Amino acid sequence: MSRRGLLTGGALAAGGTLAGAAAVAAGRNDPPPVRPEPVAVTVGAAVEPFHGVHQSGITTEPQAHAAFVAFTLRPGTDRAALGRMLRLLSDDAARLTQGRPALADTEPELGMLPARLTVTFGFGPGLFTAAGLDDRRPPSVADLPAFRIDRLQPRWSGGDLLVQVCADDPITVAHAQRVLVKDSRPFATVRWVQQGFRRAAGAEPGRTQRNLFGQLDGTANPKPGTGVETAVWVPDGPDWLRHGTTLVVRRISMDLETWDLLGRVDREMAVGRRLNDGAPLTGADEHDEPDFAALGPDGLTVMPDFSHVTRAHVTDDRFRILRRPYNYDGTPAADGTADSGLIFASYQADIDRQFLPIQRRLAERDLLNEWVTPIGSAVFAVPPGCPEDGWIGRQLLD
Ligand code: HEM
Repeated sequence: MSRRGLLTGGALAAGGTLAGAAAVAAGRNDPPPVRPEPVAVTVGAAVEPFHGVHQSGITTEPQAHAAFVAFTLRPGTDRAALGRMLRLLSDDAARLTQGRPALADTEPELGMLPARLTVTFGFGPGLFTAAGLDDRRPPSVADLPAFRIDRLQPRWSGGDLLVQVCADDPITVAHAQRVLVKDSRPFATVRWVQQGFRRAAGAEPGRTQRNLFGQLDGTANPKPGTGVETAVWVPDGPDWLRHGTTLVVRRISMDLETWDLLGRVDREMAVGRRLNDGAPLTGADEHDEPDFAALGPDGLTVMPDFSHVTRAHVTDDRFRILRRPYNYDGTPAADGTADSGLIFASYQADIDRQFLPIQRRLAERDLLNEWVTPIGSAVFAVPPGCPEDGWIGRQLLD
């Protein structure tokens, strides 16, 4: 037997024996598990564009790993300095996203595996003030109003500049973050970093990811070609924001300890969807439209009036948001209490028109509030993309 045959055949034979033993042990004749199709393009070599009408990392199919890095501008970082900073960071991003090391990259080997790296820039309220451009700040790019569910911590809130780094490989994310942070040093200090993850690339192709409550999360998002463009991109207004968008980042802790105590029926009622397949309580498949009028045998609506989906549901694309959340999972406390939740990132053309009405309804009444608590909040204007000879934010800062 060849070395290769020995490895593959041998491994399969061993696997078969193990599977056989497991089936016997379980005392059932389960069908053999279906092997997932191999991923066609290697995950590491896959590339997302940097230049273009829109910034990448927004309607881009979410990558497996993310770092949201928020900066505080140093005193003296004015409009001209911001221009220098964004020119430099745009150049870093243009190179790294295409699998080329940054200029003077100290670890060039780490810059060569793009793994669908995207770098997305957002401007917080303080950037407009620093640049002397308060009159250009979209009115809704300001601290959100306080909600009674909020327990916001300064360590996860605010920020003058946001860099959202996403890729299907965690080393690629770490390297891009390092380069961008190093090059920002003369202009800004790091305010907070939030690192998050979704399913590994290729783990469940085409499936909606799950959050750490075990729920399918992302089902009712607007999709490309069916509304996402209307929901996300600013269609008109000043040059510097047209084809851009806005971003709300909320860090929301999820109380796994008390969630664990709930039965399955209660968990499904809290959201209005089933845990196994994500179907609404009135439907059979994940993508069935929920029927909010359907009544159960008890005469009550099958979709509870205060379920998360009932409260958050919006049909008109002009009022929908694009959710691009990542899970976080910090170090448990000594007694094992989990530190888990969502880095809830929401993109929309207009925060006042789209995000706030939904957030207000949820803050007022949402069964899920019993187990989730917002602990961080930040808002950013996200300028459009740039051509090859341009840089992000040029229309505003040049
Ligand atoms: C930790 C906090 C949260 C969790 C665990 C959570 C979980 C979920 C789940 C499981 C769904 C159903 C599946 C889907 O369509 O994705 C959903 C839907 C949705 N959520 Fe959340 N969510 C959270 C926070 C929020 C926040 C803060 C907002 C907005 C302010 C929001 C807005 C929505 C919207 C718009 C939908 C779609 C509703 C529809 O049209 O069917 N969620 N969420």
